[in-house]
Amino acid sequence: MVKVAILGYGVVGSGVAEILTGSGGDVRKKADELIGLKYILDLRSFPDSPLAEQFVKDFSIIEGDPEVNVVVETIGGVGAALDFTERALRAGKSVVTSNKELVATHGRRLLDLAAEHGAVYLFEASVGGGIPILRPLSDCMAANDILEICGILNGTANYIFTRMVQDGVPFEQALKGAQANGYAEQDPTADVEGHDTCRKLCILSSIAFGWHVLPEQVATQGITKITLEDEAYAAACGHRIKLLGRSIIQEDGSLCAYVEPHFVSVQDPLGGVEDVFNAIKVKGDATGDVMFYGRGAGRLPTASAVVADVIAAARKMERAGYRPWQANRPEGVRSPEQLESRWYVRLASGSFSGGQLLTRPGAAEGEGAYLTPPMSRQTLEAQLRDQKVLSVIRVLD
Ligand code: HSE
Repeated sequence: MVKVAILGYGVVGSGVAEILTGSGGDVRKKADELIGLKYILDLRSFPDSPLAEQFVKDFSIIEGDPEVNVVVETIGGVGAALDFTERALRAGKSVVTSNKELVATHGRRLLDLAAEHGAVYLFEASVGGGIPILRPLSDCMAANDILEICGILNGTANYIFTRMVQDGVPFEQALKGAQANGYAEQDPTADVEGHDTCRKLCILSSIAFGWHVLPEQVATQGITKITLEDEAYAAACGHRIKLLGRSIIQEDGSLCAYVEPHFVSVQDPLGGVEDVFNAIKVKGDATGDVMFYGRGAGRLPTASAVVADVIAAARKMERAGYRPWQANRPEGVRSPEQLESRWYVRLASGSFSGGQLLTRPGAAEGEGAYLTPPMSRQTLEAQLRDQKVLSVIRVLD
């Protein structure tokens, strides 16, 4: 009998409890074993909940209960979540999490700790919400050398872009909608400044390339400067603006990894990804491009990925883990400064020599927007030195 404890009864934790208790019969069948929810740890009280009996406030009750063999950590952050994860693993309990910050920062050490204590540390829900991506990347693509990962990895940012384009609502109002739907982090700075995308890219890259890529190695730019005017120019030339995380293997074995908004053609499968959906394009040397698509945030999609890991842990502890990661390579990641691409530039006045002129209805007097020929950011900046620049966005080619 597998007994589960959930740490944190927020958006995802309550979804996990609902799936484990509401459709318990089915979950049990899939696990080939009985799975029971024994505890929910939260500092708040829920006296009217049908699960009121299961709530505890003291982690040591869970830590000291030999019946609990799987702990679901949905607290988030790297404070109590890290402490409880380490204590659970040391007690030989497997840990399942949706906490991308913790995995991106401490994943390798926690994977080692799990192995030392005969447990597993699983985190399918930390990337892409309900999309199955980590185990397919780790297992189903194992025959490939991965050449590139390119993904829309934050549901909140993509929802904001979609509301701006489809409904013409400004950025702040679109963000409020993402918060109301339970997509955004408690502090949405991580969503809109690109840190959440960066953490997810680090987890994907660590699995794909086999060594721990750390968030501080990845140049990260968010979406707060994107305006309705930029969206209008993107639409005018058959593009959408998307926040992408990219990790590209270089000839010398290093990675060019970064997070930036991009102009993405509507002809590209990533250009058609709207609303809270995420999509991750993985290029393998044997498979070519493979794309994973689905709801990237939200209560039940994310809880679905958590419960799948609980089932995996219940089924066969020793076979549930991902491909192992080696230690971080301090010099292993390059910035995208030398990565050549076309660029969208919007100027308050003046023109861009050799650029393709873009137009939009209602443009301000003198405003000029262009798609440039391919060049590095450094070359672009040299060409823009004496211009009044309003926006610069890389084009995904
Ligand atoms: N805040 C995250 C997002 C939640 O919007 O994608 C899922 O990781």
